[in-house]
Amino acid sequence: MEQKQINLSSLTDSFEKLAENNWALTSEVFASDFCKQLAQECQKLFSDGELTKASIGPVGNKLTASEIRGDYTLWLDAGNSPVQKQFLLCLETIREELNRFFFMGLKRVESHFAFYPPQAGYEKHIDNPRGASHRKITFVLYLNEDWQKENGGELSLYNPNNPEKLLTRVEPRLGQLIFFRSDLFPHQVEKSFTPRLSLTGWFRDDAL
Ligand code: OGA
Ligand code: NI
Repeated sequence: MEQKQINLSSLTDSFEKLAENNWALTSEVFASDFCKQLAQECQKLFSDGELTKASIGPVGNKLTASEIRGDYTLWLDAGNSPVQKQFLLCLETIREELNRFFFMGLKRVESHFAFYPPQAGYEKHIDNPRGASHRKITFVLYLNEDWQKENGGELSLYNPNNPEKLLTRVEPRLGQLIFFRSDLFPHQVEKSFTPRLSLTGWFRDDAL
């Protein structure tokens, strides 16, 4: 299916890096106008109270949960607006391309908006520890225009073989897109001093 929001040749370039390093960062896959629409949508949904405090699964109580993870999220599901539907179509295209490129057998993708209010972050974790779940590839698309260094909120990615060793720090600037193997990389969201918007998700190898 043709996707005018996606630059397919940049996507393929990022897959080359993903093949080599198990992670890849690009700012050329999504057009910035489209990212601005997604940012507006995320901001509006948060303002309307549609996003809910994220939880961290069965372990931990509510208090420790917000110390570990301070974001608010909303799953996209079927896509409740034209821009969400467009984004889901883009994710389907990326899923098909991942399968074509890596022979991965990815069956679906799940994705949520994430809004980190000031002072929120997310402590170091692995999305799919020991490869125990069906999450194979993580992506994050950042949605913050005019991001300043002093706003904090970087994604810190650590070495899978040495979780203390920083690999890279990514500023959550509009249009930046990172992919990484969900089972390998410890990562952390540094405390953000202004609202931090993104779309996060996982390409999975199980069917619904
Ligand atoms: C997550 C996560 C990273 C980011 O939601 O699991 O690690 O930069 N997000 O938002
Ligand atoms: Ni994560």
